[in-house]
Amino acid sequence: MRISVIGCGYLGAVHAACMAKLGHDVVGIDVDDRKISDLSAAKAPFYEPGLEALLGDVQKTGRLTFTTDMAAAAGSDVHFICVGTPQKKGENGADMTFVDAAVQALLPYVSSGNLVVGKSTVPVGTAARIAEWVTSHQADAHLVWNPEFLREGHAVSDTLSPDRFVYGVSDGSEQHPAVAVLDEVYSTPLSKGTPRLVTDLPTAELVKTAANSFLATKISFINAMAELCEAAGADVTRLADAIGMDDRIGRKFLHAGIGFGGGCLPKDIRAFMARAGELGADQALTFLREVDAINMRRRTRVVELTRELCGDGLLGKRITVLGAAFKPESDDVRDSPALSIAAQLQLQGAVVTVTDPKALANAARRFPELQYVQNTEDAVIGADAVLLLTEWQEYRELDPHLLKDAVASARILDGRNVLDPIKWRAAGWHYRGLGRP
Ligand code: UGA
Repeated sequence: MRISVIGCGYLGAVHAACMAKLGHDVVGIDVDDRKISDLSAAKAPFYEPGLEALLGDVQKTGRLTFTTDMAAAAGSDVHFICVGTPQKKGENGADMTFVDAAVQALLPYVSSGNLVVGKSTVPVGTAARIAEWVTSHQADAHLVWNPEFLREGHAVSDTLSPDRFVYGVSDGSEQHPAVAVLDEVYSTPLSKGTPRLVTDLPTAELVKTAANSFLATKISFINAMAELCEAAGADVTRLADAIGMDDRIGRKFLHAGIGFGGGCLPKDIRAFMARAGELGADQALTFLREVDAINMRRRTRVVELTRELCGDGLLGKRITVLGAAFKPESDDVRDSPALSIAAQLQLQGAVVTVTDPKALANAARRFPELQYVQNTEDAVIGADAVLLLTEWQEYRELDPHLLKDAVASARILDGRNVLDPIKWRAAGWHYRGLGRP
């Protein structure tokens, strides 16, 4: 099929490459020249495992091109909307400027029988509004809402083999003409057994925000348990192991630590609360305010623990922060808890050095006042305390004996509970985890 993908960020660039991999003819369109020239040269504009190799592979077939010219969408059967919906400045709601602008710019190129497929995470009600625009421009074109559930760091495999597809169509029925077209787009994963659900438009939009809210709630639940464990002298990692063995609960997303960040979970729960308020259903989501508060409290708690760990205050203390990205296998620092903690420590008088395998350039743009060192061995030299805040594999595998020779004081705060306290203490370290005795 001929496909256009509007918006080539974390979502769209991966989606475009994966659609070409599935055998379609794809054009990726974005307003950002730099992104388009990188992608055209088969260079990923951000770090995502496997993306660059995939871009190289599919570009050789001639099935994938990139451009800044929206007119290139003309002739496509299916147009995917993959632009961002960031949090509005100073408000909880989502900023819909990019989605609205993308659809308006696309409309002149939408022909009879085409599908416009929304993948961006949007406030419920957006799809119905956009469907009106589409059908008033082209009566027999269709708007579908097809939310994306990919995780950064696993984006390629999540797109090629997702755990489900959700198609939101205007009448919510399997017989809607758009269903067969999307089935053709996704024929490869569908033939391998990926389940798909057809819903009405608002249900499809809500599936996405509900899923992210559930994940955020699960993380904040275990972080609330971590607070209790700290007060009671218990160990939250063993507690999570034990409750996670109940398969109604499950162990995934029960990793207590410095909390969630990134470009999705934090802004999605806030936008969801804002939208519920507009719909007069704000009470239904008041609990998300607590989920957000528990999450933000983790960051303050780590600053306090670091102060305790350092003994006599933070002023002038050299702190090395391992990790700047909001999670491993990503260079994304949007709302990164690691960087936010690093910045707070610096504000309170510590001298903070940050290291990360992939995210330093993005981190330096966001917080130019921090010091950045690429290499872990150099970053830890002379440290009064080391904070592991993003659980990259190389930090999980650090040798406590070697590290001890480099630092000034052997004190470590394991913000992701991924190190073995027995091993680190045996090597002479003062070890602190979160929610652990
Ligand atoms: C999240 C969802 O997991 C995806 O399904 C969704 O498609 C995506 O948002 C989106 O809306 O686009 P992502 O933001 O890539 O994906 O990251 P997650 O893997 O969900 O992690 C989010 C944050 O939670 C990270 O900061 C991570 O360190 C933290 N986390 C995760 C925990 O603190 N504990 C856990 O047990 C799991």
